[in-house]
Amino acid sequence: MQQIIFLLSTRLLLCVALFIPVGVQAQSAVCWESADCGLNHQPVQFSTYKIDSTLLPLSISKTSYAKHYSQNFPALITAIQDRLLLSDSSGNMSFIEGDTFTDAGFPSILKKNVTLRDIKYKEKLDSLFACFHYQDDADNSHHTAVARLQISKNSPGSQMKWTVLYDTNHKEIQADNCVLDVTGHKVYFIIGSLKEGPSDRPYAQDKDNSLGKSFSLDIQTGKTKLLATGHRMSLGILGRTNGQVWFTENGERGGDKLSFLESGQNHGWPLKVAGTRYFRFSKSTHASSSKNHKEESSPFSEAVYSWLPSIAPSALIELTDFHPQWDGDLLMGSLKAQSLYRIRLVDNRIHSIEQIHIGQRVRGIQQMGKTLFLTTDEGTVVTVEVDERRLNSMTALPDIPGGSLLGLCVNCHSFTQPDVTSAFGPSLAGIFGRGIALHNFAYFSDSLKKKAGVWDEAALTSYLLDPQSFAPGTTMKIGAKLNPDEVKKIVDILKKLK
Ligand code: HEC
Repeated sequence: MQQIIFLLSTRLLLCVALFIPVGVQAQSAVCWESADCGLNHQPVQFSTYKIDSTLLPLSISKTSYAKHYSQNFPALITAIQDRLLLSDSSGNMSFIEGDTFTDAGFPSILKKNVTLRDIKYKEKLDSLFACFHYQDDADNSHHTAVARLQISKNSPGSQMKWTVLYDTNHKEIQADNCVLDVTGHKVYFIIGSLKEGPSDRPYAQDKDNSLGKSFSLDIQTGKTKLLATGHRMSLGILGRTNGQVWFTENGERGGDKLSFLESGQNHGWPLKVAGTRYFRFSKSTHASSSKNHKEESSPFSEAVYSWLPSIAPSALIELTDFHPQWDGDLLMGSLKAQSLYRIRLVDNRIHSIEQIHIGQRVRGIQQMGKTLFLTTDEGTVVTVEVDERRLNSMTALPDIPGGSLLGLCVNCHSFTQPDVTSAFGPSLAGIFGRGIALHNFAYFSDSLKKKAGVWDEAALTSYLLDPQSFAPGTTMKIGAKLNPDEVKKIVDILKKLK
């Protein structure tokens, strides 16, 4: 017994020791920035569910490939004409249709130890562009490069060749991620740097290296121009139809942001962050929360929007010809919030942001016609489409006879999103037979939590007839007194809500 206690306590000590940050400088990525974080739930095989977003009813399907790709899931996604192309970080590219992967047959990038970070196909140039890191064995140097593969329908894939358009040597330092997009004849890319470097000359602030910088590369002249400094780690960049280039960035604790690129900007990392530094609070007034934050002398560009707390934003796309209700909006993925964010901009300002819960860590997004394809860290391809049938019926209420009786409830409850809770009430999808106050809604009253049992016909009937006498102190206020006939009809509908 004593031995067990001894073993346990050494374990405990070890754990404690491991969790104490060595020094306060957070030099490496935290869990949610890496692909193998949070994979602790069972992979879904195939599932379809429906979500009512504010403007559109959606139908969402998840197909899991986790069995085939327990490691290194091909999260990089683009479309070549009407074919979806997925790639893993080693550069293995496949076309995917349904659940069939077909090797794309493209040549590999002829560099050593390649880690592919981003791919984009551009139809006008009939080319696939890639941003990647590689390590040169000869001198152990770390590089980040941008390359182009011109697709030619007449020659077999194996005869095509990658052309390196840009190559930078970070010497012994490894860059953290690289993202690219192409508009017109320019490739825009950002090379990330989670590492801060020396405090008197942080990497992302030092113009003599390419870490933590964004660039534009002219495909016709082959010239690369430095755009902005002070980037941390970007997982999404987008050349918009209006010519602007927007990007998402993973900041330190709360510094996640959405912004756009202009030549000469300094985005601040690691000198100015929007959140707090990991493991540290500060007593002095923070630059971005200071009353003087609009001071013209600040050398740093303000983000258009910062997320507090952080959500780990990933890919960014602009919707065109998807649906008139959403066209022109940006869609952004999020790892930590396991969601899509629909962002409406008006004159470079945020008009509104809508979170659409996906339930997995969304990394890549590709629009193909009227379908959105998402790749997730859980090894799943998620498709998102407008549910035309529900849209045509023009109601967010359940599509079953008498569904409109739930009109009173729809302000506070969702009926189509079983696993999502709103701030107002638990989801009622699958309520019949579910344990009382057992949904993942965070704000159940103690009174409802104290009730034992499941929601059967009797319990639902008495709760809806008189919430306060069923559970004195319950926080639900229906806003009307329902008569027994109405309650019976409502309970009959609730029974059918899967
Ligand atoms: C103003 C907001 C509001 C409206 C309107 C409303 N509810 Fe609720 N509902 C709540 C809240 C809040 C709770 C949690 C109550 C608690 O914890 O005491 C709840 C809980 C419930 C539960 C129990 C859920 C569980 O998981 O245990 C059911 C069933 C329910 N509501 C049904 C209805 C129905 C049916 C209607 C429409 C006739 C309705 N509610 C209208 C806010 C609302």
